[in-house]
Amino acid sequence: MADRATIQFNDVTLELPVIVGSEQERGLDIAALRAKTGAVTIDQGFGNTASTTSAITFLDGEKGILRYRGIPIEELAEKSTFVETSYLLIYGKLPSKTELADFSRLLTRHSMIHEDMKRFFEGFPGTAHPMAVLSSMVAALSSFYPEAIDIKNREVIDITIARLLAKVRTIAAFAFKKSIGQPFIYPRNELSYCANFLNMMFAVPAEQYPMDDDAVKALNLLLILHADHEQNCSTSTVRLVGSAQTNLFASISAGVCALWGPLHGGANQEVMEMLDQIHESGESVDKWIARAKDKNSNFRLMGFGHRVYKNFDPRAQIIKRSADTILKRFGINDPKLDIAKRLEEVALKDQYFIERKLYPNVDFYSGIIYRALGIPTNMFTVMFALGRLPGWIAHWKEQIESPTARIGRPRQIYTGPTLNHYVGMEQRA
Ligand code: ACO
Repeated sequence: MADRATIQFNDVTLELPVIVGSEQERGLDIAALRAKTGAVTIDQGFGNTASTTSAITFLDGEKGILRYRGIPIEELAEKSTFVETSYLLIYGKLPSKTELADFSRLLTRHSMIHEDMKRFFEGFPGTAHPMAVLSSMVAALSSFYPEAIDIKNREVIDITIARLLAKVRTIAAFAFKKSIGQPFIYPRNELSYCANFLNMMFAVPAEQYPMDDDAVKALNLLLILHADHEQNCSTSTVRLVGSAQTNLFASISAGVCALWGPLHGGANQEVMEMLDQIHESGESVDKWIARAKDKNSNFRLMGFGHRVYKNFDPRAQIIKRSADTILKRFGINDPKLDIAKRLEEVALKDQYFIERKLYPNVDFYSGIIYRALGIPTNMFTVMFALGRLPGWIAHWKEQIESPTARIGRPRQIYTGPTLNHYVGMEQRA
C-alpha cells in the first residue's frame, strides 16, 4: 500500500504528499501547511526536517552507512584519491582517465594566490586562529575574481570551483607558515594535490621536505573521509547562504565559519586538547568519564556522539585502524592514542553512553594522525575545512542548478512581548 499522510488541525484536514528517496527514505511535504491551516511546524535543531532533496551523499545513521554518489566510503578510502573523490562529489560520477587528468591539471594551474593577497597575511596578528585567517581569505578571493558573481555561467562556475580547491590548500599552508614566522613556500606543479600541501606546510627555503608516500596516503585518506556528510551544520550554512544566489567564495567562507564551532569541525582540536589535558592530569580515564556524565560539570567527551550516527560512525572506524598503522610506520609511540582507546573502551561499556547511543565520531582519532603528520592542533579544523570543501561545493552547485530552488527563509514562533508602546525617558521606572 502506498504511504499516506494526513494532518488534522482543528477542523482542517490536509493530505500531505510523501516524497520517497532512492533509498526509500520518506519525507512529508508540508509546503501547503501554512496556507491551508495557518500553522507552521517547529523542529529545534532540525532533527526531523529535510531542508532539501539531494543526490550527493547517502547516510544511514542507524546502520552506519555513508556513500558518496552511491559508492561506499570504505571503497573510496581504500581505492580513491582526494582529487578523484572531489570530482565524484562535484560532477556526480567517477572521472574518466582524461577527465581526471584535466581536473588535476586545472587544480595545479590555479594553486598560486595573487601576490597582493599574500600581503593580507601580514595584517593578521601572529596569534590569529588559522580558521579566522581561512574564512577571511576565502571571502577575499571574491574580490580578486569578481566574475564569480555570475553564478548562472557554467564556465565561470567550473573555474571558480578549480580556484577554490587549488587555492584554499595554499591559503591553509600560508596561514600555518605565518603563525610560525616562516617564509611562504610556493606550490610546486610536479607534486600531487596532497604532496603539494605537505610541501607548502613543511619545506623551508633552506631545505627540501623529504616527501613520504605514507604521509601523502594518510592525508588523502583523511580528506576523503571528511569530504561530505550531507546536510550537516556547515553544509546547510553554505546552502542557506548560496540560496540567496551568493557567489561560491562567499558561501564557502560562511561554511568555514560554521565549521569552526566546537560542536562541529572544531571538535577535532578540542579532542586533542582534551587528550593532552587527561594525559597531563595523570588522573584515571574513569574519572574523566565520570566527569563527562556529571550534569553539574560542563565537561563533555569531545569526539563522542553524533546527531545522526546512533550505532557507529564508519569514518571513525577507518581512522582508528589507520591511526595504528601510521603511528607504527612513523615509529611514534603516542600515549594519547592509548588514552583515546581506553576512553572509547570504558565509554562503550557504560550505561550512560549506551543509553544515549554515544559513539566515537570522525574527530575522535583524526587528530592523532594529523599530529603524527606534524600538523599542529590549531590547524586541525583547517584540515577538516580542506577535506569538506568538495562537499560544500557540490551542495552549492546542486542548489544553484536546481530549477526548484528557493531562497532559504525559515519561519519562527514569536515568544516576545505583545504590543507594547514607547515610553519617554522621564516616565521610565
Ligand atoms: N559527552 C557526554 N555526554 C554527551 C555527549 C558527549 N560528547 N554528547 C551528547 N551527550 C549527552 C547529552 O548531555 C544529552 O544527555 P541528556 O539526554 O541526559 O540531556 C544526550 O547525550 C543527547 O545529546 P545532545 O547534545 O542533545 O545531542 P545532539 O544530537 O544535539 O548533539 C553532538 C550531537 C553536538 C555531536 C554532541 O554529541 C556533542 O556535543 N558531542 C561532542 C562534540 C563533538 O564531538 N562534535 C563533533 C560532531 S561530528 C562533526 O561535526 C564532524
